[in-house]
Amino acid sequence: MTLSHDITPQRMRTVLGHFATGLTVVTAHDSTGPVGFTCQSFTSLSLEPPLISINPTKGSSTWPKIRQLGSFAVNILPAGSEQLALDFSRKGIDRFDRVDWEISAAGHPHLGGALAWVDCELEAEHEAGDHSIAIARVHRLEAAEAGGHPLLFFKGGFLPLAAELAAEAASSVHQLPRRIGRDEPGRNEQRASAGQDVLSA
Ligand SMILES: Cc1cc2nc3c(=O)[nH]c(=O)nc-3n(C[C@H](O)[C@H](O)[C@H](O)COP(=O)(O)O)c2cc1C
Repeated sequence: MTLSHDITPQRMRTVLGHFATGLTVVTAHDSTGPVGFTCQSFTSLSLEPPLISINPTKGSSTWPKIRQLGSFAVNILPAGSEQLALDFSRKGIDRFDRVDWEISAAGHPHLGGALAWVDCELEAEHEAGDHSIAIARVHRLEAAEAGGHPLLFFKGGFLPLAAELAAEAASSVHQLPRRIGRDEPGRNEQRASAGQDVLSA
């Protein structure tokens, strides 16, 4: 068993990266214009009352602006929006430059092409290590009529298309499972190094 003093941030990323998630962009609009950041840690938290949660990193410069506004939208990203997810995590660029967006009735930027949009109001925020747990009440939510598949994140990278995954699975079907060694990067981490440095714990 791994002892707690062996649990490095890198090992947390490598092992917990086996839990696949979707990806979102959290957006709001202040007096200077639209603000937003890519966010993996989105959860549907409670149905009654309707609550969602996200985990902003303490190093974020965007989250304090959104916290100050007290309300935001969560845009659920579709397959094929890898570049958008990377753009909304980069500093020194206009993150909204290469995407269509409109202001929702609730006053938040909704990104074109999203699978769904959730407008919500911040209710509580709890400290949690190098992140926080922000809980927000859902006021409006809507899914795109066109439907579509989600953008998925797995082992520090974007999940490849299903066909590629199926081919990988078929070629490894007779192999015994092997445990990832200490701090050994997963395969997807090599594919998408941009994601691995910003993985939320
Ligand atoms: C795939 C991916 C997932 C991310 N998930 C989160 C997250 O759950 N929470 C978070 O605070 N930042 C997350 N980030 C990092 C933010 O998008 C952003 O880089 C960070 O907040 C710093 O930018 P800022 O200073 O504008 O906030 C993620 C980035 C990527 C690429």
